[in-house]
Amino acid sequence: MEWKTRITELLGCKYPILQGAYGAFGDWKFAAAVAKTGAYGLITASTSRTPEKLREDIKRCRDATDGAFGVNLSVSTLPKIEEMLEVCIEEGVKIETAHYKPDALASRIKESGLTWVHKAARVKDALHAEHLGADAVIVVGLEGAGGKNPEQLPTLINVTWGAKQFKVPFIAAGGIGDARGLLGALAMGADGVTMGTAFMATKECPTNQASKVGMVDSSPDNPRLRFRVLSSTNPRDYAAALQKRNEMPLTKWLRLLEDLQPKNSDWPGSPDVPQATAVGSLAVGVIDSVPTVKELIDNIIREAEELVAGWQFIKAG
Ligand SMILES: Cc1cc2nc3c(=O)[nH]c(=O)nc-3n(C[C@H](O)[C@H](O)[C@H](O)COP(=O)(O)O)c2cc1C
Repeated sequence: MEWKTRITELLGCKYPILQGAYGAFGDWKFAAAVAKTGAYGLITASTSRTPEKLREDIKRCRDATDGAFGVNLSVSTLPKIEEMLEVCIEEGVKIETAHYKPDALASRIKESGLTWVHKAARVKDALHAEHLGADAVIVVGLEGAGGKNPEQLPTLINVTWGAKQFKVPFIAAGGIGDARGLLGALAMGADGVTMGTAFMATKECPTNQASKVGMVDSSPDNPRLRFRVLSSTNPRDYAAALQKRNEMPLTKWLRLLEDLQPKNSDWPGSPDVPQATAVGSLAVGVIDSVPTVKELIDNIIREAEELVAGWQFIKAG
């Protein structure tokens, strides 16, 4: 079966599955491994740390694979973001901006002609990025990993609501990690999916084995995990923290944001799976092994094709 959506066309990948960004460990080797499978790999610029190292990492990734990959630039948390962007422009690599408004970078990105995807937590922020000229947008639902916006909605609503509004191709994210999640998102109107947590439970992910096994062992209805993932910060505290971005060093500001997130470390009755409850999303519900990235993608595609072939209820006659 040929997988062809507006996202595979735009990004040049074989399958409409994108790797998530990871602030501390989204390195070029992991991105290259994902790109080799036919999915879209992603180098997280903050993992490269400096513009010089990012340039090296892009080149290494390119040498390692003919597959499609891009670079994530997390606005507001990435030091030297303008210089990082210049490296991406000089290297002609596709970019994904994320985390916060990309307004300050938009005109430079547009004049450079780079392919630009923006990732947002709210449909309205994704629409704003579309208005600024983004070629595609990702909307991350509440059940996904990453910082929470007080107005963030679940993935199902983001996708069906977004499908009515976006003109550019768009990508669903948040709690997606298997064939059903992929097909569901496409059926609801998305052109592709981003998976963060699901790619973390693979052999190539440069994190420790305990956290991968923790994801396999975790259940999305674990009260502690569910509470952490679905909780939003108080909108007033969140707005006040955003105002303080330039008043303190980045690490202190990130800690401030983290401290706003409600915690329930002693929730009664929740099994203790600290490694997974500390980072993963509710996508742990569909993680039952630690495969290679190739096995993960091959399995998702094979199962998706089998599911579609078996959908008798929509067949004629
Ligand atoms: C450990 C971890 C670190 C992350 N770091 C970043 C980051 O630095 N920048 C970013 O844009 N997204 C970051 N994300 C979010 C993912 O890229 C992706 O949007 C999210 O994981 C999607 O939800 P899912 O985990 O349910 O698939 C991170 C996610 C995880 C789990």
